[in-house]
Amino acid sequence: MRVLVTGGAGYIGSVVAARLLATGHEVIVVDDLSTGHEDAVPAGATFHKTAITALTDLSEWNVDAVIHFAAKSLVGESTQQPAAYWQNNVVGTVALLETLRAAGIGTIVFSSSAATYGGQEQQPITEDAPTRPTSPYGATKLAVDLALTDYAVSYGLAAVSLRYFNVAGALRTAQGQWYGERHATETHLIPNAIKAVRGEIDAMRLFGTDYPTPDGTCVRDYIHVVDLADAHIRALDAATAGTHHVINLGSGTGSSVREVLDAVGQVAGTPVPVLESARRAGDPPVLVASNARAREVLGWEPRLGLLSMVADAWAFEQQRSTA
Ligand code: UFG
Repeated sequence: MRVLVTGGAGYIGSVVAARLLATGHEVIVVDDLSTGHEDAVPAGATFHKTAITALTDLSEWNVDAVIHFAAKSLVGESTQQPAAYWQNNVVGTVALLETLRAAGIGTIVFSSSAATYGGQEQQPITEDAPTRPTSPYGATKLAVDLALTDYAVSYGLAAVSLRYFNVAGALRTAQGQWYGERHATETHLIPNAIKAVRGEIDAMRLFGTDYPTPDGTCVRDYIHVVDLADAHIRALDAATAGTHHVINLGSGTGSSVREVLDAVGQVAGTPVPVLESARRAGDPPVLVASNARAREVLGWEPRLGLLSMVADAWAFEQQRSTA
């Protein structure tokens, strides 16, 4: 298949682009490099430095399907700048959908998020749980999910929304090339814990030790970015004209922040320096995915556990500092 990957210079987009190439697909990457890195675009892909809104005519590109990652993705920032999130993530995506429609491109896999659910009483979270996003970021992901349902019903689009839980780890290709997480503003737990062990920050701030969870810290569902990429490739095949599949991607099991820190300490061979801090606004105590639908619709299952995510994230950071 010839696949257009928007946001293919970002963390997840670059891993998916690399896995698409490794599994025999052709890849065109579009990224405005607002947060991505040009050197993260895999060598075998065609690259266009362009915003999705500037893509007005794709009829000559012979694209079979689109995997759409390009978006603003910081929960905290979205509460400060909601307009930028609505403009970029929602207005931008609707413009992209119109460009696809005009070019007769009928398949899209969309990078949605567990942030569409907000906090939930019922765990694990199934796709028919009520959607109550607690941030503009989550609201914009939900808005696109709703638009995709309408485009599937009315225009026959084959659409799949993949709702990621906590993505971690890195990819090392057969050629020895690494693809991983390197955000200018790093908000995620595992990269920050690794920075703390490596002395790049004084300590990792542990946000909240008084949650109603077994060890008092938040419980999340971590999924390896390589497993996540595999699900995207399967979603291209599962996409069906006139149908919008909404599918959670998670391991189905929860790990507390302290369990993650233990894993990082184990991989690094030294404990993570931690500064116990107040809760971070908007963090629900527990988010764990039901992945029953992913198993059923995609024939997918997670293969790589927490230790392998941490080991790969660690190896990615080590090779970056020696590169
Ligand atoms: N945490 C810390 N210290 C840090 C970073 C995180 O203690 O420096 C804690 C958080 O408070 C949270 C857990 O580690 O309890 C995981 O935090 P992340 O920021 O790594 O991930 P989130 O669960 O907040 O975010 C994920 C996705 C978002 C998505 C959100 C839905 O990364 O894209 O789930 O709630 F929006």
